[in-house]
Order: sequence, then structure tokens, then C-alpha cells
Amino acid sequence: MLIQYLKFITILLMGYFYINIGIKHFTEPEWFLQIMPPYLPYHIELVYISGFFEILLGVLLLFNKTRKIASFGLILLLIAVFPANIYLAQTNGSAMGISPMIAWGRLPFQSLFIIIAYWHSNVKIILNKNVSSPVFWNDLYINGNTKWDIGRVTPIVSNYLKNIKHSIGKVCVLGCGNGYDAMEFARYKNDVYAVDFSEKAIRNLKDKSIENDLSINLVKDDIFNLDNQYLEYFDLIFEYTCFCAIDPKRRVEYFDLAYKILNNNGILFGIFIPLDKKSKDGPPYRVSLKEINKIIKGKFEIIDSYFSKLSIDKRKNSEKVLILKKIV
Ligand SMILES: C[S@@+](CC[C@H](N)C(=O)[O-])C[C@H]1O[C@@H](n2cnc3c(N)ncnc32)[C@H](O)[C@@H]1O
Repeated sequence: MLIQYLKFITILLMGYFYINIGIKHFTEPEWFLQIMPPYLPYHIELVYISGFFEILLGVLLLFNKTRKIASFGLILLLIAVFPANIYLAQTNGSAMGISPMIAWGRLPFQSLFIIIAYWHSNVKIILNKNVSSPVFWNDLYINGNTKWDIGRVTPIVSNYLKNIKHSIGKVCVLGCGNGYDAMEFARYKNDVYAVDFSEKAIRNLKDKSIENDLSINLVKDDIFNLDNQYLEYFDLIFEYTCFCAIDPKRRVEYFDLAYKILNNNGILFGIFIPLDKKSKDGPPYRVSLKEINKIIKGKFEIIDSYFSKLSIDKRKNSEKVLILKKIV
């Protein structure tokens, strides 16, 4: 988290720095002409061109969508203007009337600026970090910032469905995201309700379900509203990385909701992750089986609980399958 803030602040500072210096190329060009190596032609033109790119790249650095291109552009620009710094050092600073120590001491800073530009290249600044708001999640989908998405059906789910062979009935996938798991439930002829409040995620799933000729009920809504319409409705709820995505203060509410929307024989099939996270930050917020056991007491009975060998490599031992049956 601290690193994120540091990056946010240094992006603003560097953006301001490049725009400011860029403007100076136009208002005080003589300052830059002093360090233009004599072997280069078109001195004034080069001052204006480099100033133009400093302003442009400084502005582009401030936006998530253009930050990557700005970072690599700045790296090229810093390399391109490096001869001016070398020339200043070669004159022992006299080209600008500064001391030899400062003239030579400036050189390593150019590499520091290059490192900072690279460090900024993959930063996405998210100002609205309200995980209970669809805007927060929708922006992540729009910016392609979906590190949780494994891009295919979870092997634990395909194996579960392969083994039970028959249709389960009405299945609710909470926080379905791009919906690979929801589509797998639909392939096994279940009546699937894929719920997510991100418009982009639901649109992605709609496109893919049409492409794959699968019928899925797409519910673009907050999961916490489901009890208005789906009381005791579902045979099974599937949970994967939704529980760790909601505000941890809402975890009791989450299981209350699950309880209400399941019918009396209902099952909550969940893969709970991340169990091994040290920091409190999120999403994903860390998950503890002790906490889950405490919350579900009197509402759900654990009928199975296991670490699966089918977990993808980087999630092995950090996720646990829990099969919970509603207590009536
Ligand atoms: C970490 S992603 C997981 C997506 C998907 N389950 C997967 O494994 O790829 C969490 C998803 O839950 C959705 N979500 C979070 N809180 C929600 C809420 N209160 N109501 C509906 N969807 C929610 C987000 O939009 C996001 O798509």
C-alpha cells in the first residue's frame, strides 16, 4: 500500500517536473542552448522538439491509459538528451557556469530518472477504492487490471462437475467476473444465474456465452440485493474470489445472504482464498477458516473441506474447498 502511495506521489511529481522543464524549453531556450553539444546541428530546433516531447510525455504520464507509453517514451527521451549532460560534464560545468562536481555529479541522476520512468510504467492509480462500488470493479475490467482472472474454468470446478455427472438445478455464481466457471456450470445443463455488478464483466460473459452457445441468466446487480428476488431459490451457490473481494466488514452479511437465497437442501460450494496472506490490505482481503467457521455456526454445516491438488500452481495450499450445507 505504501509503495502504491509512493508511486502515486512520484508520478505527480515527475509529471509536474517534465511539464515544467518542457515549458522552460520554450520560455528560456538559451538555458538549454548552452549545453547543446557543438557537433549537433539545428540547436534551437532540437531544444523545441525535446521541450515538446517533455510536455507531451509529462501529461501522458498522469493518465492510467497512457502511462506505459509515456514511461517508455521518457526513457527514450532521457537517453536522447544524455549527450547534453555529457557535454556539460566535459566542459567541467563551464557551459552553464556550474561547478565541475555538479556537472559530473548530474550524470548518474539520468539513470535514476530512467529507473523511475520504468518503475512507473505499469502503475494504475485507482482513486476510488470503494470495493462495495461497481465503479471500482468496472474500472479494473476496463483497464484490463484483472490479475485474479485465470482465463479459463477453474480445474476444481470442471472436475467437480465431471464427477457428479447430473444437473444440479438452479446455480448462482456470486461475483462471476468474466464467467468461465459460470459457463462450465451451464455446459452441464444447470440453470445458471451469473451475478456481478460490473457492467463490463457481465458484457464480456454475455459475448462469450453467445459465442459458446450457452444459455446463462445474466444478473447485473449487487449480490447483497439478491434476497429481494431470489429467496430460497437456488440449489447451489458457487463462490470463488468473491468473498475475498467484498469489504471484510460485510462477511456476516455475505453468509446471511447466501443462507437466504439457498433453498432448504441448498449447498454452498466455495473455494476460499487467500488463506496465506499476511497483510490486511485488499482486495483480495485475507481469508481465515477460523473466521468462516465462526460466522457460519448455526447456518451451515461443513460437509467437506479439503485442499485440492487441482488448484493452479500459484494458488496451491492458499485456497481451500468448503462444501457447506444449509442448516434448517
Ligand atoms: C476478484 S473478482 C473474481 C471474479 C471471478 N469470480 C473470478 O474468479 O475470476 C471479484 C468479482 O466480484 C464482483 N463483485 C464484488 N463485489 C460485488 C458485489 N457486492 N455484488 C456483485 N458483484 C461483486 C466484482 O465485480 C468482480 O467481478
